[in-house]
Amino acid sequence: MPASSFISALTIDAPAWPEWLPPESPLVLVRCHFSVEAYHDDEFARHDIPQPLRLQRAVTKRRSEFLAGRICARQALAKLGIDGQAGSKAERRDPIWPKECTGTITHSHGVAAALVGYARHWQGLGIDIEHWINTESARHLSSAILQPHEQQLLDEDDIRFAQQLTLLFSAKESLFKALNPLTGTSFYFHDASLVHLNEGAQTLTLRLDCTLNEQWPAGTTLICHYSYSPAYITTWLTIPA
Ligand SMILES: CC(C)(COP(=O)(O)OP(=O)(O)OC[C@H]1O[C@@H](n2cnc3c(N)ncnc32)[C@H](O)[C@@H]1OP(=O)(O)O)[C@@H](O)C(=O)NCCC(=O)NCCS
Repeated sequence: MPASSFISALTIDAPAWPEWLPPESPLVLVRCHFSVEAYHDDEFARHDIPQPLRLQRAVTKRRSEFLAGRICARQALAKLGIDGQAGSKAERRDPIWPKECTGTITHSHGVAAALVGYARHWQGLGIDIEHWINTESARHLSSAILQPHEQQLLDEDDIRFAQQLTLLFSAKESLFKALNPLTGTSFYFHDASLVHLNEGAQTLTLRLDCTLNEQWPAGTTLICHYSYSPAYITTWLTIPA
């Protein structure tokens, strides 16, 4: 089969981490670029990844982002020594991971990533990539994403406000991806809020403002990490086992 240009710039790394990431609890972050224009349906077979039934009527963009995420997941699992895949559920979108590990997938406008670790170290992981929201959209979206008291914590300057809003949007998506599979409970943007943003360490503290279950009561705080490029921000949230 000729080489495919669907996937490019695939990197396998540990996520950037401000503190010491214990070597005995590794995390693998795989990121790639993918081209919707270069996508053909034979890419699933080429990468030996089953296409779920529910994607068969999906548009090309949806098929390509799903596949790119699964390719990242496969590479991350392989780096951990696991010869497996992130499977799919018929009715829910959170992936099924091989029992030894847990992970999380994201994709946004031609970029996909997966973050994977061993289940004995991590009970939940959430990752999200968001391309920067522009200044005009940021002002429109802010009340949907932020509670009124969070808006007071962000910079008044339009550009900085849009950057921080993108960060919070992404961080809350990462929070949801880490906690929804663990708790089975849905929650929304106003159910969590920013406590503290540490731009030096590239972390932010989020607080749950609703109770998800006995283990995850309102008031629980969690740290989210982030890194960014000129085009997009990546956030990830890890819950130790
Ligand atoms: C799931 C959700 C958080 C992100 O979906 P998205 O906008 O498509 O974002 P991304 O592309 O970054 O991530 C999609 C991937 O997340 C994963 N995912 C989907 N639902 C998930 C869930 N419930 N739990 C964990 N991971 C999930 C999947 O791997 C999916 O990709 P795939 O379908 O190709 O496998 C969002 O759609 C959603 O359901 N939001 C509602 C609740 C919410 O946002 N709450 C914010 C809480 S503060």
